[in-house]
Amino acid sequence: MVKYKGVKCELFKHYFTSDDKTHQKLTSSQDIEKTRKEPFNAPDTTPGDEKDHPKNIETVGAALKGGALVGIPTETVYGLAANALDGAAVKNIFAAKGRPADNPLIVHISDISQIARFSLVREIPESAKKLMEAYWPGPLTIIMKKGVVPDEVTAGLDTVAVRFPSHPVTKRIITAASVPLAAPSANTSGKPSPTTAYHVFHDLSGKIPYIIDGGACEVGVESTVITVAGDTPTLLRPGGITLPQLEAAVGHVDVADAVLNKLRDGETAASPGMKYKHYAPSARIVLIRSGDEAYINYVNERAAKGTAALCYDEDAPRLRVKTYTYGAKNDYAAQSNRLFTVLRAIDSDGVKTVYGRCPETTGLAMAVYNRLIRAAGFEVIELA
Ligand code: TXA
Ligand code: MG
Repeated sequence: MVKYKGVKCELFKHYFTSDDKTHQKLTSSQDIEKTRKEPFNAPDTTPGDEKDHPKNIETVGAALKGGALVGIPTETVYGLAANALDGAAVKNIFAAKGRPADNPLIVHISDISQIARFSLVREIPESAKKLMEAYWPGPLTIIMKKGVVPDEVTAGLDTVAVRFPSHPVTKRIITAASVPLAAPSANTSGKPSPTTAYHVFHDLSGKIPYIIDGGACEVGVESTVITVAGDTPTLLRPGGITLPQLEAAVGHVDVADAVLNKLRDGETAASPGMKYKHYAPSARIVLIRSGDEAYINYVNERAAKGTAALCYDEDAPRLRVKTYTYGAKNDYAAQSNRLFTVLRAIDSDGVKTVYGRCPETTGLAMAVYNRLIRAAGFEVIELA
């Protein structure tokens, strides 16, 4: 049962000052319509402590502690948060998203000392300490042997994923809740992850009581997930912290098979989330791995109604179909920042077939590739 079905959803902008009259709630259908028409126009927020509305943070902090679900901003994507120590509250996350129960959640903290205070892990291995030192707070999730965490959070595994986000508003919300927060991405399961508060509202309004708007997400794809629970640190999901960055902190890091390749039938995923078809828009996406000319010719030869291109900025002027640009060819940060917003725009425009430029697999582009290859259901065409 979805506990919050039919509940009025209040969207709080975080940046209003202490005057309550400026405390804006965006809940009308015009607001949704606005995002559909202006998919790239994130709310005009600049995350920053000085603009937070303290009352909103207090309101959702108390609600979270009491068992409510809240849509929260982070520097990666928006999260759907619940009190990580409250198994019943966490269960509602799975219902609201339509998430399979065997896919574990990440526990979010706002201070490293909370790991010990709440006995989240059995021990913090040396490699984890080095990673925390180098990249926390930030877009990195570390999996360790589990301490005292409800089974609803970890889907019964003996490990737990922990993340210390860097977004100032996320840290304040966790601190106000005074408990660690379990939070998956705040999208309907299988849909592109949300990178603005509007995306969360689109997917979850009517199912959750609050969303805090912290502006558009800077990284735009989910955190890097690394496990240090085994003998060798292993990358399970690429994200804002790159493989070379991880190796700079802890030496050699294995890369799980499913990061770049489709799992074979019957193969077990190191991270349950990797086995699901993910990030999928309604359109069919076909990725083209080729040089510039070959891509442009291939797409132009197939120009037809309902056909579009998901391309680099440089390609757009030469294409004769509707184009969705996801960043300049060499700007991996822009590509990661825009990918999910573009996939959502493709959905809302009702495009049938999209020919996508296949991303690179190095640095931050590995994260973009990992998401897009899943959105394309691993359909890749190689051209000379
Ligand atoms: O950036 C992020 O990580 C965002 C924001 C909200 O923090 N959260 C997020 O959560 O992306 P979610 O639930 O969409 O993805 C978590 C991934 C899933 O693939 C899940 O299977 C994996 O982490 N995971 C969580 N706990 C795990 C564990 N104990 N062992 C292996 N994989 C785990
Ligand atoms: Mg997700």
